[in-house]
Amino acid sequence: MASRVISVEPFDFVAFGGTGDLVRRKLLPGLYHRDRVGQIPPGTRILGAARAPMSVDDYRALARESIDAHVPEHERDEEVIERFIARLGYVAVDALGDGGWGDLAALLASEPERIRVYYLATSPDLFGAICRGLERTGLVSAQSRVVVEKPIGKSLASAHVVNEAVGAVFAETQIFRIDHYLGKETVQNLMALRFANALFEPLWNAARIDHVQITVAESLGVEGRAGYYDGAGALRDMVQNHMLQLLCLVAMEPPASLDADTVRDEKLKVLKALKPIGPAEAGRVTVRGQYEKGASAEGPAAGYLQELGRPSSPTETFVALKVEVENWRWAGTPFYLRSGKRLAERVSEIVVSFRPIPHSVFDEAAGPILRNELVIRLQPDEGVKLSLMIKDPGPGGMRLRRVPLDMTFAETFADRHADAYERLIMDVVRGNQTLFMRRDEVEAAWAWVDPILEAWSASGEMPKAYRSGTWGPSAGIALIERDGRTWHEDGA
Ligand code: BG6
Repeated sequence: MASRVISVEPFDFVAFGGTGDLVRRKLLPGLYHRDRVGQIPPGTRILGAARAPMSVDDYRALARESIDAHVPEHERDEEVIERFIARLGYVAVDALGDGGWGDLAALLASEPERIRVYYLATSPDLFGAICRGLERTGLVSAQSRVVVEKPIGKSLASAHVVNEAVGAVFAETQIFRIDHYLGKETVQNLMALRFANALFEPLWNAARIDHVQITVAESLGVEGRAGYYDGAGALRDMVQNHMLQLLCLVAMEPPASLDADTVRDEKLKVLKALKPIGPAEAGRVTVRGQYEKGASAEGPAAGYLQELGRPSSPTETFVALKVEVENWRWAGTPFYLRSGKRLAERVSEIVVSFRPIPHSVFDEAAGPILRNELVIRLQPDEGVKLSLMIKDPGPGGMRLRRVPLDMTFAETFADRHADAYERLIMDVVRGNQTLFMRRDEVEAAWAWVDPILEAWSASGEMPKAYRSGTWGPSAGIALIERDGRTWHEDGA
């Protein structure tokens, strides 16, 4: 299928934290890909901004290296790389002081009417100072947008401080709080599946759905990020944002349109309907784990504490939760969430498990009648599978078998599709906020997460140890099995 590219006006893109990991791994390669498909118009400028002085040539060399490192060879096109690199500039800016702001203003001055994207790929501690610097220097126009990355705070109170600081300079319609899970192809497909098919909506409720599972499992450990991660943990790092966003897309009412606020209003209602988990419930419906040494796909793996270089830490690298959405559609249908580092494999999926048939007309020889399941696989091998019971073909009488109706996207759509960041950056340029989190959503998610964190800390208990390369502590398995259900395994 030919790719269709939505054209945009020339724009200026300023990446604060311009020499950092996110810019090198995701933003520069992402913008290059958009250039390659012809979406970046002539005249567009991409500026790196960071504290260290650096020449434009050196910044271009850094960009070249990042493309070589993060774009597969068959997607590197010399002509496009040269065109892309020529768009790049660099300016040294001191976020906390006065240095460099005038240089940035001078660079942008020639195109005052242009769409300006300020991407804050820095520590959230600097968000407020950078926004104030932009305002002070007269760089915030009606056409300006700011993109902020998680973590937006560590609690409701600290998220509020960050949101206030950014909101003091930019209007909510100019603020793009990025959650890269919302840019993933299959996550958007969830909306297409739910709202572009007549099939699912009549079944999409507690009367027909027994439970939903959301798993985001990683095989890697915390790698070089132990410093950040130890102050966060799996609940803040993955659940407060990515996983609650996925839950919202599964659970929300059909929005009247795809207009940003209409979709976000519906997601907010779900967040507000989450049953609170306080000290009385936390022990029963939450599980925390921390990986010990064991195995990974690359061989023997160190434990979290060894990577951190400390004798102990209360930080969880695994979390499993039983979540309830208290509204008419979902009362009685739990959502089981789990996420962890150094698990047995890298797999992210949403499993919608339907209720059993009310009565079987088959005799025992036909075998068990397994439930229908809709599996939405985010990664790897993006796709959707709907498992159905059929008659086992051939002789031998009526024997039943569960088989998947399998739509693996790699086979169905051979074209490369945009990475989450790539797609989201262009949404910012186009001013489309549908896939970005609104302030009240972020704060509602924290309001639900805070009591869990408080309950954990008040309990004085440490996370349960699990061996690297396994599916987490056995309590994570017991959490669902106690209810007579089981975590989904591929092929089941
Ligand atoms: C990030 C988390 O937001 O998402 C990381 O901070 C995590 O800890 C990453 O590894 C997972 O993203 P993806 O796209 O690789 O599933």
